[in-house]
Amino acid sequence: RVAAVIKELEDQCATPIAKLRHVADAMAVEMHAGLASDGGSKLKMLISYVDNLPTGDETGLYYALDLGGTNFRVLRVQLGGKEGRVVKQEFEEVSIPPHLMVGGSDELFDFIASALAKFVASEGEEFRLPVGRRRELGFTFSFPVRQTSVSSGTLVKWTKGFSIDATVGEDVVAELTRAMERQGLDMRVSALINDTIGTLAGGRYHNNDVVAAVILGTGTNAAYVEHANAIPKWNGLLPKSGEMVINMEWGNFGSSHLPLTDYDRALDSASLNPGEQIYEKLISGMYLGEILRRVLLRLAKETALFGDTVPPKLEVPFILRTPVMSAMHHDKSPDLKVVGSKLNEILGIPNTCLRTRKVIIQICDIIAKRGARLGAAGIVGILKKIGRDGIGKNGNEISRTVIAMDGGTYEHYTTFSETLQCTLKEILGEESSASIVVKMANDGSGIGAALLAASHSQYREAN
Ligand code: BG6
Ligand code: GLC
Repeated sequence: RVAAVIKELEDQCATPIAKLRHVADAMAVEMHAGLASDGGSKLKMLISYVDNLPTGDETGLYYALDLGGTNFRVLRVQLGGKEGRVVKQEFEEVSIPPHLMVGGSDELFDFIASALAKFVASEGEEFRLPVGRRRELGFTFSFPVRQTSVSSGTLVKWTKGFSIDATVGEDVVAELTRAMERQGLDMRVSALINDTIGTLAGGRYHNNDVVAAVILGTGTNAAYVEHANAIPKWNGLLPKSGEMVINMEWGNFGSSHLPLTDYDRALDSASLNPGEQIYEKLISGMYLGEILRRVLLRLAKETALFGDTVPPKLEVPFILRTPVMSAMHHDKSPDLKVVGSKLNEILGIPNTCLRTRKVIIQICDIIAKRGARLGAAGIVGILKKIGRDGIGKNGNEISRTVIAMDGGTYEHYTTFSETLQCTLKEILGEESSASIVVKMANDGSGIGAALLAASHSQYREAN
């Protein structure tokens, strides 16, 4: 029985290369559709109003807020310009209390504004700005936002674990600004960006070959540099640079080629956002552990994998987090003692035998590899759209293409990141993939927000 359930899972999660090519093609097609019109695709292809990426000339003291990953962060970044390129960065990290993720809008914004106020209040004399100059802030807000300018935009919907109705449709900069006023904090938000845009900006600052950014963390998403004249839905003036950065919101990608199982369907319908973010629910850190829990629960119920009774904790949604899954998956000890102790600690299942532990590793492997392979296919979709998915059409070598990557799932889940890398090679072929580099850009997003705050500063000429 156990073997049959696993075999079924394996078959349903299969991602042979032909399927991945279909996914990549579908991604590229949806990108075109989302650029053509609002509502034209599940991919929102949001216009960021960022038409210039950092040059390295940025100087000055800027702040950044980063909301939407595992932790909320407040940063202070000292930009040194080309000469003293060294960026001095200090930050504080706080986790958002879960009740604030599903409560009222003011409560959430008050919480983040008060963390910022404390951070500023505790800084030394050396950070005092000249009289009359306000502190400026880059706000990384890692949710889909329809921008109305580089420093304003309305929330389309919440994703990941957040759900606060009152914020949807509101300008999140106005919300933050009001909360800062309530805290008596006089600061100006000069850039509102998605974490993908911050990672792209931070990545480009260090490396000119960066053309796209991907986040594989709690959620998943990508941003890339598009030709402004390839965005039919853009009806503003064409930017001088001829370029526009697009926040794809690829987490909401959907396609009949995605290998969905009953576990995924049940996870989706029980989620805060049923029917949405289907690609994200197959790939990202918020969900991988939960898929594993659902498979284990079925095995407990139907095959008595853990004995005659179903362990009660296994019934608790989201109790198995992806870092725990990763720790079990990477257990190299002969008796799989990490698996044993995690099952005991987290799920209250003592004394599992080696056979059971091996089953768990097998399931982790199926779920993590499906996610990583689908992520690789998404990246190939972007490369196709921008014409960098192969050796140049005339046999010329194409330029180096760097994808800035961030997020805990990619950073800490080794099998996941290795699988993604190998799959890119598998889809593109050795030769074409040789010029493509996925580069971990740890905390690119915080620096990126500060860089974009600098390039959109109201005092720019004065710099
Ligand atoms: C961080 C970015 O480095 O990565 C965040 O600054 C982003 O904005 C995050 O959301 C994603 O990571 P995770 O794994 O915490 O969701
Ligand atoms: C979710 C958000 C998106 C963000 C991603 C990664 O998909 O909707 O805006 O970029 O998570 O944090």
